[in-house]
Amino acid sequence: MRNSPEYPNAALLAKRDAIRSLALPVVRGALPPGLAGHLFVMSPVGSVDSGGAPYPDNNDRPTVINGDGMVWRFDITASAPGASPSITVSSDLVKPPDFYYDELTKNGEPLDFAGFADLGMLRASLFLGTRNFANTAFVPLPPKSPGGAPRLVCSYDAGPPVEIDPATLETIGVVGESWDAEALDGLVPFPPILATAHPMYDPESGLFFAVNYGRSGLSMLESVPFFEALAFLPDAVTYGLGRLAAIIGKAPFVPSLKSLPARAASWAMQASQGMFKRNEQAVIPKDFLDLVVWSGEGDIVRLPVVDMDTGKPAVVLQSMHQIAITRHYVLLLDTNFKLRFDQFYNNPFPHVPELERLIRTALASQQGTTSNLWVIRRDAVMHALAADTNHAVPAWKVPLLGAVHFLADYDDSDGIRIQCAHGNALDIAEWVRRDDQRLGGSTVRSEMHGMVASSVDVSELGQYVIDPSKRRVVDSRRISNDLLWGIALYAARGVPAWDKIPERLTHSFWFSSGLWDDTYTMFIRSLYAQYEDRAIPLSEVDKIVLRGGMPSTLVAVDLEKFSICDSYTFAAAVTLSSPQFVPDPARSGDRGGWITAVVWTSDASWLWVFDAENLAQGPIAELSVPTTLGFSLHTAWLPSVTASDPNAVARAAAPSPTAASASAADAIQQRLARLKPKAKKRLEGLLSGRRARS
Ligand SMILES: [Fe+2]
Repeated sequence: MRNSPEYPNAALLAKRDAIRSLALPVVRGALPPGLAGHLFVMSPVGSVDSGGAPYPDNNDRPTVINGDGMVWRFDITASAPGASPSITVSSDLVKPPDFYYDELTKNGEPLDFAGFADLGMLRASLFLGTRNFANTAFVPLPPKSPGGAPRLVCSYDAGPPVEIDPATLETIGVVGESWDAEALDGLVPFPPILATAHPMYDPESGLFFAVNYGRSGLSMLESVPFFEALAFLPDAVTYGLGRLAAIIGKAPFVPSLKSLPARAASWAMQASQGMFKRNEQAVIPKDFLDLVVWSGEGDIVRLPVVDMDTGKPAVVLQSMHQIAITRHYVLLLDTNFKLRFDQFYNNPFPHVPELERLIRTALASQQGTTSNLWVIRRDAVMHALAADTNHAVPAWKVPLLGAVHFLADYDDSDGIRIQCAHGNALDIAEWVRRDDQRLGGSTVRSEMHGMVASSVDVSELGQYVIDPSKRRVVDSRRISNDLLWGIALYAARGVPAWDKIPERLTHSFWFSSGLWDDTYTMFIRSLYAQYEDRAIPLSEVDKIVLRGGMPSTLVAVDLEKFSICDSYTFAAAVTLSSPQFVPDPARSGDRGGWITAVVWTSDASWLWVFDAENLAQGPIAELSVPTTLGFSLHTAWLPSVTASDPNAVARAAAPSPTAASASAADAIQQRLARLKPKAKKRLEGLLSGRRARS
């Protein structure tokens, strides 16, 4: 019998209720004098139908990623200079216009037949389009005018950025209008828009950079008609198919060794996709990559990116989870976070597990092992912005080992220096499902349903210097270390920047989630059993899991030596996310401050504070936070959230709920007005039906 620590259940609990100014008790240690400001943490909290997490129907959705974004703001204040501060927390949901449509059509409402449904990592409706959860990261912006209030944008991979008021947490609106849909343009009010979860603001130029792209043959929406159609099959048919699947497929779940039935199912599904493409011309996705530039007001500008080597439009192979800015370049990373067909269904046959397993096996695929970094000259961007007709910007690409997150120094005078997290065989687009088996054959714990699947190899950190004149990497260093199992998110001074991007970071901080028996499923193990450049043999990974796995860690990296210079290893059955650097006004340097992190133990959620100069000593303060703070993602820190001159801007005052809903209604009407006549008629019919019933 093994004795592996359990992944904390508290990380998979979430509630959607807003909180206002709740005081947090310091349970251990003390908050250091000087710690001050406002910490923002983003956490997905399920949908209008689930009411939070866990989902009431015990289903197979990726709970910790797929859900409305809840913004938590920790206000850190001291009663007097030098006094120990105290912390209160407030929270609220990000509510872009599609949020209100989701409410309008949620389960139990008269129009629920037209509403959004969870389809794996997507929430979509054939009538309405796709949800923009705005649930992943933040981009802080300075005040519009001196003395005004700072601004905050919430971002997401599959939707345009959404601005909120950091003081009231009210949603202000979607950034820009001219986003190009990947598919279904003009047919639904909220067509799928692929963007980046990490746009970046450049205080030097006052420009906000993002991307907007589409991928032919990889559209997220292609899978929707197929799986929606499956849901309408009569029970007798699905049971019959299930029995057949069980007989011919022996309920396969080994994706790297696809059985003939699994392959046949895969072909059938591809053929079905083709059929939908022919029948519904607007479902056909487009292949494009546009650099998005926003001045902070009004509409965005889209600049088509052209591959300098081919003269053709640049193509995104996977996803653009993150971009970065240097003084002279814009960097777009084609990250190996897979956004593909196999991510957009959960379980069309909840009562026929054999069939569900067959479909999952047929569709499963590994993420890519490489990432292209597209490099664009800033002067070319300014030239394109000023041009009358040709707005294209040339770009060249640098192939890198697959990465999801990266940081770049602003100073590029000695080449473009970046650091990348290489999550080898760490597939954050796969999640634990209820039929998953653990190593040795037992079924996964129900509390883990929806959690990101475990890594199947050790991760690495890479540092690269790119010489723009040679258009290639000229210096490359990598760290592979047992402290880096399941590398996740970063923290560093001035990241994300709100007033000045760091010229050259001397240190950065990363956390790794570890290796957990709970989420090391036979499915993910099989999917990545054969993996290019595997560092640790699979049999050795198995042994580590059976010995209890690997713990979560927080490390500091010396970026000049490129080595881990400090680390803290979390106790068994304790994990973390959302690290953020908070500067200490009394200290300088990249370690002169604190690292805050959300921490979960088996039945409780915490905010821990580390001294960034001494992680190894452990947390210096542990605050109890509501258990409704579940799995969380990226963070931001702002020194102030209100205008320094109270007369300058009135935005700190909360808008009335009436004003907020009127604004959303306006946005919806504007979207309806842009639809093609047939689609508009269909939606207006739905809305008038709703009004008649209510
Ligand atoms: Fe991210």
